[in-house]
Amino acid sequence: MKKRVSGSSLKSLRLSLRFIVPLAAALGLLAIAAVPLVDRLTMHWFMRDMDIRSRLIANTLHDQLVELLQQENAAKVRSLLNRAVQDERLLALGYCDRRGKLLYKTPAFPEALGCPAPPAADTEKGQVLHLPQGAVHVAVHPVGVPSSGAGSLILVHDMSFVERRSEDTRNYIIAFFALLGVVVSAITVFVAHLSWRGWLEGVRAMLRGEGIVRPFAQPAVEPELQPLVGDLRSLLRALDSERRMADDATISWSPDALRNLLHKQLTGERIIVVSNREPYIHSKKGDGIEVHRPASGLVTAVEPVMRACSGTWIAHGSGSADRMVTDRHDRVAVPPDTPEYTLRRIWLTKEEENGYYYGFANEGLWPLCHIAHVRPIFRSSDWEQYREVNQRFADAVVDEADSDDPVVLVQDYHFALLPGMIRRALPKATVITFWHIPWPNPESFGICPWREDLLEGMLGSTILGFHTPFHRKNFLETVDRYLETRIEHESSTISRGGSLTMVESYPISIQWPPPWQGRQPPVAQCRDELRRELGAGPEHLVGIGVDRLDYTKGILERFRAVEKVIEQHPELSGRFTFVQIAAPSRSALDDYQAFDAQVHALAQRVNQRFSSEGWQPILLKAEHHEPEVVNRYYRGADVCIVTSLHDGMNLVAKEFVAARDDEQGVLILSQFTGAAHEMHEALIVNPYHIEQTAEAIFRALTMPPFEQRERMRSMRALVRDFNVYRWAGRMLLDAARVRQREKLSARIRRNQ
Ligand code: G6P
Repeated sequence: MKKRVSGSSLKSLRLSLRFIVPLAAALGLLAIAAVPLVDRLTMHWFMRDMDIRSRLIANTLHDQLVELLQQENAAKVRSLLNRAVQDERLLALGYCDRRGKLLYKTPAFPEALGCPAPPAADTEKGQVLHLPQGAVHVAVHPVGVPSSGAGSLILVHDMSFVERRSEDTRNYIIAFFALLGVVVSAITVFVAHLSWRGWLEGVRAMLRGEGIVRPFAQPAVEPELQPLVGDLRSLLRALDSERRMADDATISWSPDALRNLLHKQLTGERIIVVSNREPYIHSKKGDGIEVHRPASGLVTAVEPVMRACSGTWIAHGSGSADRMVTDRHDRVAVPPDTPEYTLRRIWLTKEEENGYYYGFANEGLWPLCHIAHVRPIFRSSDWEQYREVNQRFADAVVDEADSDDPVVLVQDYHFALLPGMIRRALPKATVITFWHIPWPNPESFGICPWREDLLEGMLGSTILGFHTPFHRKNFLETVDRYLETRIEHESSTISRGGSLTMVESYPISIQWPPPWQGRQPPVAQCRDELRRELGAGPEHLVGIGVDRLDYTKGILERFRAVEKVIEQHPELSGRFTFVQIAAPSRSALDDYQAFDAQVHALAQRVNQRFSSEGWQPILLKAEHHEPEVVNRYYRGADVCIVTSLHDGMNLVAKEFVAARDDEQGVLILSQFTGAAHEMHEALIVNPYHIEQTAEAIFRALTMPPFEQRERMRSMRALVRDFNVYRWAGRMLLDAARVRQREKLSARIRRNQ
C-alpha cells in the first residue's frame, strides 16, 4: 500500500513538473528580455523629464540673469545661481561667456566639466556624463547678453536617483515575474490535476461499464473522452472475446473453440439459423438427384459455423428435388455425406417467391442498399408477400425452438421483419440478426415506402450486426431519422418500447483452413490444368474473377480494364487471359437479364477486338461452379480481380487469399468492398476508374515474387486470425452477455 502511495505521489510530482519546468523556463527568459527593455524605456523617460526641467529652470533664470550680467553684478549673479541650486535635484549651475570661459559657478560645479559646447539649436537635449562624483545630466542653454554677446547657462542635474530607480524597477520586474510564475504554475497544476483526475475517472467509468451491456446505467463520460468511447469499447469487447477464448485454453478461433464457447457461455444451446438461401440444394438430374452448394457469400460464411455448432437451419427449399429428400417435418440432415445439423425447408408458392424474393427483396431492398445506379422498385403486392413469408419463417422458428428462449441467427435483407415477429412470439429469445449487404444513408433508405416497418422489425433483434462500422453508423442515423427511439452512441444500443438492440460491426469471413485445402491438387498442377484449359503455355498469365452475375459486381468495368491494359501493353496480347466465372443469379428479373446480355456483349466485343491465333483475352464461364472447382481456379491464377461497385464484404477476396498456400498471386480489390477495409495489402482500386484498374492489372502481372509473398503472407495471416469462427464467436459472446444480463434482471425482478 505504502509503495502505491509513494508511487502515485511520484507520478503526481512528475505531472506537476511537466507543467512547471517549461513554464518557469519561459517566464525566466521573458524576465531576462524585459529588464533591459524596461531599463531603456525608463532612462528615456527620465532624460525627457530632465530636459524639460532644465529648460524650465533656464527660462525662469534667463531674464534676471541677463539683467545682472548687464549690470556686471557678480555677487548678485552668484547669489542667483546659489539660490537656484537649492533644488535637491539640481546639482550645480555655471555660466560661460561667449569665449567659453567659465565666469560663474556654484560650489558643486564639477571641475572636469568646464564649458561644454552648446547643443545644436534644434535639439536642446542634455547629455549624461559619468564623472568621478557619479552620473550627471548636463544641459547647456544660450543666454543672450546685449553688452557682452551670447553666453551659456550650464545646468548640471544629479542622475544618481535615476540609477537607483532603474535598479528598483529591475528588482520589481524580477519579483513580478517570479510571483507570476508561482501563481500561474499553481493554477496550471491545479487545473491539470483536476482534469487528469476527471479523465482517469472517465476512463475508469468506461471500463466499469464494459463487460456487460448496460446502456442505461452508463456512467457519465467526460465530453473530452467522447471520441474515445467507441474505440475503447470495441477494443475491450474484442479483448474480452479473446480472453474468454483463451480461458478455454485455445487462442485461435476454430470449430472447437466455437463449440466450447456455446457450451460454456450459452450452456450448450442449439442454434437456429434462418436464411432465404439454403446451404445445400437438391436438384433432379436425369433419373437421379444431385446436390450442389449455391454461390452465396452468406452460405459460404454461415455453413461452417452451423457445422461447428449444430442445430437447425431454416431456409427456402428451392431445389427441384428438395421435397424428395426431406422427412414429413420438411427436415433433412446435412451435409449429405456427413450429417452435422438439420436443414428445415420452407416451401414457397411461385407467387410468394415472386413477391417476397424477386420483388421486395431483390428489386426493392437489394438496389436500395447498394450504390450501383439501379433504381429500386417497390410494389404493395410484393410487400404483402414479404410480410407473409417473414411470418411463415417466424412460425417455423417457433416450431423448431425447443425452449422459450432459443438463440436465433437471422440472416440478411430477406428477413427484416422476422426479428420483430420472433420477439412477439418468443419474448425471451436471443435474436442475432446479421445484415450481409451494405446499409445506405438515411436519405437513400427513406425511399422505401415501408421504411418504418422494416426498422421496427429489425429492432426486434437482440444484436444487429453489419460488416463495417460505416454501415452500422448509417443504420443508427437511419433509425434516428425515422423512429422515436433512444440511441446510446457510446454503447451503440437502441432502446424502443422497453426492448434493447445492440448494433455492432462484425466483419464476416471464411472458414480457415478452407475445407478442401487437404484435397486440393498442388498449385503447380492447378496452374498447368488451367493453362491447358486455355490452350496456353506454362508462362501464360491468367487473371480470375468469380462472381454471381450481378450488376453490383462491376464485371463490365473489369472487362473494360482488361481491354485497356491490353491496349496500353500490346506485349500482353496472346500472353494474358482473364477468366470470369459468373454464376447465373436472379435471372427471372429484367435488370439481371439485361446485365447478363451486357456482360456477354462486352466480352464478345473485347474478344473480337484483340483475339488472334486461337487466343482471346476474356474467357466468360457463365455457369455454376462448385466451390472446390472455383478453388482450383484461384490456385492456378496469377491475379484475382474483385471490382464490386458496392459490396458488404466480398468473400471472394478472402477465398482467393485462403487458397494461396504458395503465398503467390496478387489480389486487386475494389475500394467499395468491406474487405478493402481489412486487406490493405491488396492493390486497392476504384473500379469506376478504368485506367487505374488497368494499371493495377499490369502491376499485378509484373509484380516480383518476393513482393507477392510479402503481401499474400500478411493477408493470409489476417484471414487466418479473423476467420468466420471469430465472426460468429464475437456475436455469440455478445449474445451470451446480454442473456446473462437479462437472466440476472429477471431474477432480481422476481425477488423484489
Ligand atoms: C448476397 C446476399 C445473400 C445471398 C447471396 C446470393 O451475398 O447477401 O443473402 O444469398 O447474395 O444471392 P441469392 O439471391 O442467389 O441467394
